[in-house]
Amino acid sequence: MIGVFDSGLGGLSVLAALVDALPQADFIYFADTAHVPYGNKSEEQIQCRVLAIGEHLASHGCDLLVVACNTATTTAVQALRAAHPHIPVVGIEPGIKPAAQETKSGRIAVLATEATARSPRLRQLILEHASHVEVFVEPCPGWATHVEKLQLDDPALAADVRARVEPLLARGVDRIVLGCTHYSFLAPLLSEVVGARAQLVDVAAAVARQTQRLAGRLTHGSGRVQLHSSAHPDRLRAALPLLHLDRVAARVV
Ligand code: DGL
Repeated sequence: MIGVFDSGLGGLSVLAALVDALPQADFIYFADTAHVPYGNKSEEQIQCRVLAIGEHLASHGCDLLVVACNTATTTAVQALRAAHPHIPVVGIEPGIKPAAQETKSGRIAVLATEATARSPRLRQLILEHASHVEVFVEPCPGWATHVEKLQLDDPALAADVRARVEPLLARGVDRIVLGCTHYSFLAPLLSEVVGARAQLVDVAAAVARQTQRLAGRLTHGSGRVQLHSSAHPDRLRAALPLLHLDRVAARVV
């Protein structure tokens, strides 16, 4: 069983990529809907939640964990690995490396939660992979909450997206990293603003490939998905078609 988790709905974008890459595997998806968003929480609060979810998933038989949340990965993946030394853990981190490799203008931007934006891990990623390019880090408070409420067409959100992204484009950014899994669901809105001026960088498929490499015998299950959450379990199932994830919904038991 593969355990996948996020603060809420965002990690479903990673689950969709996982289901595509490992159609026979069995998954439990855990949404921490009682504590979403993580982006405005302290390091200690995020770590505490990640460890509790790790326990929950391990006790339900998960032998591989995918942290489908950039904020949880940058803040707490080491603590999670230390707590479960025998369980492989795949994290998701903003796609700084591909963006820095692909940029033509030498300028990239990272859209992320406040917690990810201020994390030492993000600074380290930039130093490791993007020291030769200019990197603009843009915290986007409230965006994950809009996705959580399924308010994807909210004019206030559209205005905020434009207000944050236009200045980045004006500075010549040609790669925009989606540094929060919730933002995958904002890709249509972002694409509308960005047009042909920049490309969005989403690493969900890369995370699925890495999981595939580690999954071994776990790839041979019955292709089922269980949905768990810390609050509002029904909302999770109901959100799937609204997020255009019918192919995931078809596997839910
Ligand atoms: N989906 C999460 C991420 O990838 C966190 C969003 C939030 O809870 O603030 O960072």
